Amino acid sequence: MEITLVLGDITEERVDAVVNAANSSLLGGGGVDGAIHRRGGPEILDECRKLRASHYGGGLPTGQAVATTAGALPARWVIHTVGPVYSATEDRGDRLASCYRESLRVADELGAASIAFPAVSAGVYGWPMDDAARIAVGTVRRAPTQVTDVRFVLFNRDAYAAFARALDAP
Ligand code: APR
Repeated sequence: MEITLVLGDITEERVDAVVNAANSSLLGGGGVDGAIHRRGGPEILDECRKLRASHYGGGLPTGQAVATTAGALPARWVIHTVGPVYSATEDRGDRLASCYRESLRVADELGAASIAFPAVSAGVYGWPMDDAARIAVGTVRRAPTQVTDVRFVLFNRDAYAAFARALDAP
């Protein structure tokens, strides 16, 4: 597996699967979620609504992942995962790790060879970037997956630097 870092907008990545930092409603939000729905068009939300009705009436649980079409994005699928809200008092790192593992498991089911991840939970959900990067890189490195091309797409230089440090760590 090759892991690369990209500074930019995840909606522009030409990959098999783009991961969305969604919320459990699957009905859209701001940040990456807003950008994906804006650029991908209404087909994505349509499928999310259907998935809610058929499987996730109570919402997609934290740490799980589910795929839809990528609509107008230059990708084949969007994999929606729900990161945990950061807590300074409770260790929710296992749930953040689960987002990466489950996204890769769904990617394997789809037969995806390439995937682009944002820094899940490190925006609205408040996760400190260095810790989010350490969990992301450590989990992906250890995951049993057929995906050969993993990209972390970071929206600003601080996020990029945090992921670069995590990638350099043994
Ligand atoms: N491409 C790549 N990264 C982006 C983009 C983009 N187009 N837009 C934002 N980001 C970055 C943010 O700067 C942050 O570092 O993605 C990271 C994750 O931020 P959020 O999108 O806020 O995701 P998260 O912290 O997991 O919060 C999820 O926010 O939008 C709502 O519906 C979503 O309620 C859910 C919550």
